[in-house]
Amino acid sequence: MSAKPLKNDVFLRALLRQPVPYTPTWLMRQAGRYLPEYRATRERAGSFMGLAQNPDYACEVTLQPLDRFPLDAAILFSDILTVPDAMGLGLSFEQGEGPRFATPIRNEVDVSKLCVPDMAKLQYVFDAVKVIRRELDGRVPLIGFAGSPFTIACYMVEGKGSDDYRLIKGMLYARPDLLHKILEINAQTTAHYLNAQIDAGAQAVMIFDSWGGVLADGIFQQFSLAYTKKVVEMIKSDRDGRKVPVIVFTKGGGQWLESISACGCDAVGLDWTVDLAAARLRIQDKVAFQGNLDPMSLFGGESAIRKEVRRVLDAYGRVGNGGHVFNLGHGISQFTPPEAVAALVDEVRSYSPQYHV
Ligand code: CP3
Repeated sequence: MSAKPLKNDVFLRALLRQPVPYTPTWLMRQAGRYLPEYRATRERAGSFMGLAQNPDYACEVTLQPLDRFPLDAAILFSDILTVPDAMGLGLSFEQGEGPRFATPIRNEVDVSKLCVPDMAKLQYVFDAVKVIRRELDGRVPLIGFAGSPFTIACYMVEGKGSDDYRLIKGMLYARPDLLHKILEINAQTTAHYLNAQIDAGAQAVMIFDSWGGVLADGIFQQFSLAYTKKVVEMIKSDRDGRKVPVIVFTKGGGQWLESISACGCDAVGLDWTVDLAAARLRIQDKVAFQGNLDPMSLFGGESAIRKEVRRVLDAYGRVGNGGHVFNLGHGISQFTPPEAVAALVDEVRSYSPQYHV
């Protein structure tokens, strides 16, 4: 694909800690059920996977939030669970129930059958990236993503979401060798998958370690971060002469900020339990930060939203040699009123320029 110059590269520049005129913004799960137009497209597609596996539908919903709000990045519409689906675990999303796998990985026999899947099984994702890049026409950069090896393993072993992670933690303590095998396969797969997204046109990539934060100290480093680091090391660092920044987000990972920031990534996503000023002191601007508004603050009404946005921007403070991408501390709730997002984006745009002079 010929590389169209970006009309707005504020997001990529902020990730690389280069000067920008204001703090760029995008929101985790910005394309989703809180938007009536998303619900309408999903209805037409018939199911979540019907949406994700059709590049034209995936493109349509990726662009919906950008048509409503002046966001600075688009994120590929897909899911982290397409990877274990390609490994043959049989993913389905029942309405209102969340994801489920028909054949979870529970024992030595299951693990022995597991292998790095042929990337051709995920061609629909790479096709979606190409269609979205074409339709974006350089408006803003496109983010590709994957789950971390550990977060993917949570779903592979549990077979669905979990409250206590009993099955995967049981395996971790009883048969660490089995879990290490799964994580190694996941790391190789994730690196191939992200590199193929970059080849298709993704201009930044994000690794979602949504459940790394449930692990004990000492275990997190061995079973989650070590494998995220392997993925980061295998990612192609540039494309068309431009660096492809890597963002790592470990929800609940604030206490491990030093080691996460040292994994080779360009930016670290932070949830709302972390104070950005204190985080900056700890890391000394060695990486950019992405975050970290509490998604539930969007239920507080316009003046509270604007106040909380200013609090996050004030905490990061004068950007100087640092880099800040405004985001939520986790995905947006499906019950969020769209007007709340409009107020958030407006406040970041009007209040943040003072910190970039
Ligand atoms: O806009 C975007 O951010 C891009 C799309 C995106 C989705 N999932 C779409 C989606 C992204 C980046 C994800 C990542 C994802 N998926 C994560 C990591 C981020 C996080 O939230 O921690 C995780 C853990 C998943 C797994 C997953 N997918 C769950 C647990 C669920 C069900 C819960 C829910 O919110 O419904 C999904 C389904 C899903 N993925 C939806 C969307 C828009 C809702 C499905 C629907 O339309 O019914």
